[in-house]
Amino acid sequence: MTHLPTEFPDFGLTPEQRRQAVRTHYWERPGMDGERGEIWCYTDRFSYRAGETVALHVSSTAPIFGITIIRDGGSETKLFEKAGIAARWQDTPDQCSVEGCGWEASFEFGIGDDWPSGAYRVTLTADGRDGQPAHCHHLFIVAPQLGQKPGRVLQIAATGTWLAYNTWGGSNHYEGITGPNRDQYARMVSTQRPWCRGFVVLPREAPRVPLEVAVPPRTVPRYPHMEWAFATGHSKKYASSGWASYDSHFFRFAERSGYAVDLASQHDLHFSPEILDGYDCVVFVGHDEYWTWEMRDAVDAYVTSGGHAARFAGNFMWQTRLEDEGRRQVCYKYRARAEDPAYRGGDVTRATNSWEAPEIGRPGSATFGLNATRGVYAGWGGCAPRGVRGFPVYRPEHWAFAGTGIYYGDLLGADSHVYGYEVDGLDFELRGGLPYPTAASGAPDGLQVLAVGMASQVEESADIPLKDQFLGDEDGRFTAETLFGEASDANLDKVKRGNGMIVNFPRGKGEVFHAGSCEWVAGLLRQDAMVERVTKNVLDRYLGKT
Ligand SMILES: [Fe+2]
Repeated sequence: MTHLPTEFPDFGLTPEQRRQAVRTHYWERPGMDGERGEIWCYTDRFSYRAGETVALHVSSTAPIFGITIIRDGGSETKLFEKAGIAARWQDTPDQCSVEGCGWEASFEFGIGDDWPSGAYRVTLTADGRDGQPAHCHHLFIVAPQLGQKPGRVLQIAATGTWLAYNTWGGSNHYEGITGPNRDQYARMVSTQRPWCRGFVVLPREAPRVPLEVAVPPRTVPRYPHMEWAFATGHSKKYASSGWASYDSHFFRFAERSGYAVDLASQHDLHFSPEILDGYDCVVFVGHDEYWTWEMRDAVDAYVTSGGHAARFAGNFMWQTRLEDEGRRQVCYKYRARAEDPAYRGGDVTRATNSWEAPEIGRPGSATFGLNATRGVYAGWGGCAPRGVRGFPVYRPEHWAFAGTGIYYGDLLGADSHVYGYEVDGLDFELRGGLPYPTAASGAPDGLQVLAVGMASQVEESADIPLKDQFLGDEDGRFTAETLFGEASDANLDKVKRGNGMIVNFPRGKGEVFHAGSCEWVAGLLRQDAMVERVTKNVLDRYLGKT
């Protein structure tokens, strides 16, 4: 393995700035760049089909702007360019993250019939008042047309998670400026706002969440990704979600490797489940945390009737609901039992809580074989910061590992650090040196565990005080309460030790392969030959090539 530095990277922040980078809430908002001026934009939807019209909503301090649209795949193709488009500054409501920005459409353009399905990066450029150009980046998806798709892969972008983490306007499903004291996370978030800085494009040197540091003894955790975000003016959550950090790495890898890949949003999956029809293989990647009941119905029906789902993703955690024709995503999360109307006369199975809340009755394992609350953190903060980095392999003879030369006890993807920062797992036991899901684990029939690593739901150290920990035991206490009714020490002890797995199982006429880690895409980004080979083995088998 390559030798890691023993010190955290330094981005020129003072100790106080480093504290602010991690412990305070900061976000993109109109006016944030002050005198030099700004340009921002969003589109009326996340995805379009050929022939449809995109409405671009722009607010700009400059009276004109230029637009460039590039398809961001295995290669970059410029599809559209135009200069001299009129714009104006548009007022933005204080609670725009929740209600939407409400800007008037500034420019419309059509999706050409010859624009292949994929991700399209929009760059707007205007003159800043300091003589330097001002830019903004946006992304929309061109979804495939319906019909037979022999030999094609459909990737579903984790747009529910992008929306949940988008810091633009001040509120998301994590932190926010809602509530009387302007300190509450948003239970509802709008699609009608720009993406935060770092969701569409990122420089190569932007740190990922898992640490690339050989952490010395008794080290207080640091968070290079948040320090870099603070130092460079990127979103605090750039490394947690978004096309640039996650979904793009699979899409580009697949195209460069010669696969024909189409792209759709989770909104497409929710509103048009027939989008899966005709595909032999559907893929989910990255940090994929927020799903609706309807999205799961679509995948379950697809697999049962003979489809193949490959999930190279982690953290299948929360149920959401979509409202206002998909423009609003609802997730009460930690406050669901107290505040979600689904608990007060609504349909409690649709509660926007963890999928493993017993009242919902639909653990994530029923769709993808693994559960979020049995997995969670690895490789950062005080959660296994010196942990395995790759997946410890137990069944090297499985078809997914063919041609890798991997052995029992090897770590798959350790050099490229594919294991983390959130992983999904199952309760399991070892017998004769092999892992098996326990009877109470919720594993589907016929599930095989190919690899298992350790994860932690709490930061807990005899040598590091709790005040120096960022995550602490808050998430663990929530899981303890959700699963067992009370956030007691005894219940915390039942949930705090997690794991992350690679599993494979049949369902009906179809099959699911699941490498339950957000960071699988890091192996594709860093061109880890063994991770690439496993990914191709899965795609080739599911496309009927092998
Ligand atoms: Fe997450």
